[in-house]
Amino acid sequence: MTTDLDQLRTDLLGSIEAAAGLDAVEAVRVQALGKQGVVTGLLKTLGGMSPEARQVEGPRIHALREAVTEALAARKAGLEKAALDARLASETIDMTLPVDGVPAGSVHPVSQVMDELAEIFADLGFAVATGPEIEDDWHNFTALNIPETHPARAMHDTFYFPREEDGSQKYLLRTHTSPVQIRTMVQDKPPIRIIAPGRVYRSDSDATHTPMFHQIEGLVIDKGITLGHLKWTLETFLKAFFERDDIVLRLRPSYFPFTEPSAEVDVGFTWQNGKRVIGGDPRKSDNGGWMEVLGSGMVHRKVIESCGLDPNEWQGFAFGTGVDRLAMLKYGMDDLRAFFDGDLRWLRHYGFSALDIPTLSGGVGA
Ligand code: DAH
Repeated sequence: MTTDLDQLRTDLLGSIEAAAGLDAVEAVRVQALGKQGVVTGLLKTLGGMSPEARQVEGPRIHALREAVTEALAARKAGLEKAALDARLASETIDMTLPVDGVPAGSVHPVSQVMDELAEIFADLGFAVATGPEIEDDWHNFTALNIPETHPARAMHDTFYFPREEDGSQKYLLRTHTSPVQIRTMVQDKPPIRIIAPGRVYRSDSDATHTPMFHQIEGLVIDKGITLGHLKWTLETFLKAFFERDDIVLRLRPSYFPFTEPSAEVDVGFTWQNGKRVIGGDPRKSDNGGWMEVLGSGMVHRKVIESCGLDPNEWQGFAFGTGVDRLAMLKYGMDDLRAFFDGDLRWLRHYGFSALDIPTLSGGVGA
């Protein structure tokens, strides 16, 4: 019996070791441990043995079963790993190839422009901040020093949520991205350098106005910030965005409740084939003019105070503009409504590849 069991063990482990594939491993398993298997047969003989014989043979037969089970599992895992390694070595996937039969999507110009802006401002040290589209009256108006009588607060300009029980109108769809200025100053300690791109809502609809559109806000709060910093930042940004060195800015005195002084920023454009093309100095040629692109100014003391900061210690500048409008100026669309129609022909024509990653130093779309 001793020799038989040892011989059997050597034979079985040898065949497992020699099994060249998973089928062969399975065949040895059936031969040893299947219903009619040799080891199964040996286990059955235990029932007919005397208690003394069983005490000697039992552990030996169980040990044999265990050794065979383990060897089978090890051989199986080894073969599976070898098969996977072979596949990994032979198969390569080029993730950049178009997938057959699946139409390639494209990046919407609004998303593209937001990415371009985030890249350009990231290179200038600005972080991206966000805020809720359902905003409250305090963040959207009051903290920004927007008086009760301001037209932006009128029912016909703003989408309000139903009145509160006390009759006040607390919640609304934000009418601009400026409340993100407030949220950032309340939450973060200066120095602050952020841009805030996002959706905004106004009760307005024609070829150049849609009830939902996109803005981008900029905010810098630090010590000793001047209009000079504002102008340099905007000039650097506009040159990078429009990919032209001959961008000329004009800061025109204006009024926004949350900045003092306030300036509207115009850029020079040149007429080319009946279209306005950004760039060139309108003071030096008759073939062009000024186009307003941004609102801006030095952050009003009252706004800084509203956020719990000391305006004698902290100053800064802010700016805001329409993302859709920037996209139209750069890429030449003329009807804003088409941006949100979801017309595939328009999207294919104006869409961008997901692989066009813009940078300030590399040149956008380079
Ligand atoms: N919030 C203004 C609007 O929607 C745009 C704006 C103007 C933002 C001047 C600013 C700013 O940050 O300084 O018309």
